[in-house]
Amino acid sequence: MRIIFLIALLVISAQTFAQHDPYIGIIPAPVSVKKARGEFRLTAETIIITDSPGHKAVRFFSDYLKKAGFSNGVTDVNSLNKSQKGMKNSITLSVNFKADLPPEGYQLLIFDDNIILNGKGAGLFYGIQTLIQLIQVKNNNLATIPCAEIKDYPRFGYRGMHLDVSRHFFNVDFVKKYLDVMASYKLNTFHWHLTDDQGWRIEIKKYPKLTDIGSKRAQTKINRAGIDTFLYDNTPYEGYYTQDQIKEVVNYANSLFITIVPEIELPGHSMAAVAAYPELSCDPNKTYKVAETWGEFKDVYCPSEETFKMLDDILFEVMLLFPGKYIHIGGDECNKFAWKNSDFCKQLIADKGLVNEEGLQSYFIRKIEQYVNAQGHSIIGWDEILEGGLAPNATVMSWRGEAGGIKAAQANHDVIMTPGSGGLYFDHTQYKSPLEPLSIGGNAPLSKTYSYDPVPSELTKEEQKHIIGVQANLWTEYIPTAAKAEYMLLPRMLALAEVAWTPKGNKDFSNFSEERIPQHLAKLDAKGYNYRVPVAIGASDTVLTGSKFTIELSPSVEGATIYYTLDGYNPRETDLAYTVPLKILVPENKTVELKTIVITPSGKRSIVADMKLQNK
Ligand code: ACM
Repeated sequence: MRIIFLIALLVISAQTFAQHDPYIGIIPAPVSVKKARGEFRLTAETIIITDSPGHKAVRFFSDYLKKAGFSNGVTDVNSLNKSQKGMKNSITLSVNFKADLPPEGYQLLIFDDNIILNGKGAGLFYGIQTLIQLIQVKNNNLATIPCAEIKDYPRFGYRGMHLDVSRHFFNVDFVKKYLDVMASYKLNTFHWHLTDDQGWRIEIKKYPKLTDIGSKRAQTKINRAGIDTFLYDNTPYEGYYTQDQIKEVVNYANSLFITIVPEIELPGHSMAAVAAYPELSCDPNKTYKVAETWGEFKDVYCPSEETFKMLDDILFEVMLLFPGKYIHIGGDECNKFAWKNSDFCKQLIADKGLVNEEGLQSYFIRKIEQYVNAQGHSIIGWDEILEGGLAPNATVMSWRGEAGGIKAAQANHDVIMTPGSGGLYFDHTQYKSPLEPLSIGGNAPLSKTYSYDPVPSELTKEEQKHIIGVQANLWTEYIPTAAKAEYMLLPRMLALAEVAWTPKGNKDFSNFSEERIPQHLAKLDAKGYNYRVPVAIGASDTVLTGSKFTIELSPSVEGATIYYTLDGYNPRETDLAYTVPLKILVPENKTVELKTIVITPSGKRSIVADMKLQNK
């Protein structure tokens, strides 16, 4: 009885949200939404007015309208006479206004006869992303937008999403598609992991072998971590971006208010570069190959003057391509084996008065930082850069939990939180089930990502200011295809967006996952993204005890159908479709298995969820 009562309560609260979603479907949830009655009707006659026709955000909106079938041009406010200003049936996009807004903030006023959007800098772009999320296109001549008053600005200035293109390569079109979905959820930093042991992916004019040799590997390990016998695909693999392609992506990102942080890994994770130029290693007489398996490798850059000269040259070309403040120099998982066995390194440690190989690592990072700083850029490094003492101006990316980030913030260094333990490693599975695709290990369900808070409570108010943002990472050892990359990214990236943007007090996982996510997944479907279809809302792999059950479910994707079985078989389209709450009676000492699957109109499928209802 108690279970039935509980389920009934859950059902009621879900319906309450359905009618009263305080965020009217917007992801990430804004700072403040005041709903009003009525709607604005966007038609062929609607005039789009702006005080800045050249603004990238205005061009973005104008392109969006064209794609949605509207040919309304944009009118410069200066070309209107007094009586035309504040006209009915108009949308005004403005960057010059009196209201005081925080950085990247916007104010969106939707009335039934006009819309006013004021945005500060990138804020205009974010206001447009919100507006677009609210537009319901009916046909080529009509779209409706619900009346509301929205004030919004981000919790963090750095809102990052990473992509590893070394373990598997993703082409320019895919990267642009990745940037598109980031921008629509107000993420503003793309961390492009361009080099690693398994492939060097950026053309460097002065050192052509980096790509001639370093972008190619003979084969790839395909079975999962922890299994002793390696299985290989016996297939050569290659790929890299030319500098022209890099420029194209940088410009594209810029049009979406996204800054790219390129990562050039050093001193570890450098097998691809060492294979191309063995003189970068501590033993140039050895032959090296681009890695075909995953993990840490013993051979890394040697801290010689020759290595620093080459890395400076490489970074020089990289900094010409990427105008952003930050260059990520890696710093993680640098195996010390080669350094410990090198007479040169032993002598260097003695000459420089360093403590040990950790000190040598810091010496390495500091020298690189000096060069990068002299070119007007700043470095970011993974939290291992703390180990032998931090480089003076470095920003720390805390990935092994939060300890490194906390220590760095206490030492007055800026920090970006990206702990794997906080659900921010999107190469982990999204659900514990053998039906999920192969992953590197770890489980990071949507709820875990969503509940992450980047600001540790042990920091003082002053120290907390050093937490400049948050990022999730997509490492691609076991992600060989674009379809799988999207599957691992979505919908978790939407949870990241809410962690990065939304005030902590506005976060609400039930509302997010049950009310807003289903609408957004349907939209992502229409845009051609391969997201993971969550199991039906109300379903899970679980065991419930009782004799009478009323099971209420709803689709995890708007417009999708839930199919179910009670006979132990895996459900498919040929089974019963769920339409009304299921009343299930379980005989004494028996178990009934309720298996469900969600299938979207485009044919995407959830895994099968298995609820065991037992009367024992
Ligand atoms: C990392 O995951 N090795 C930064």
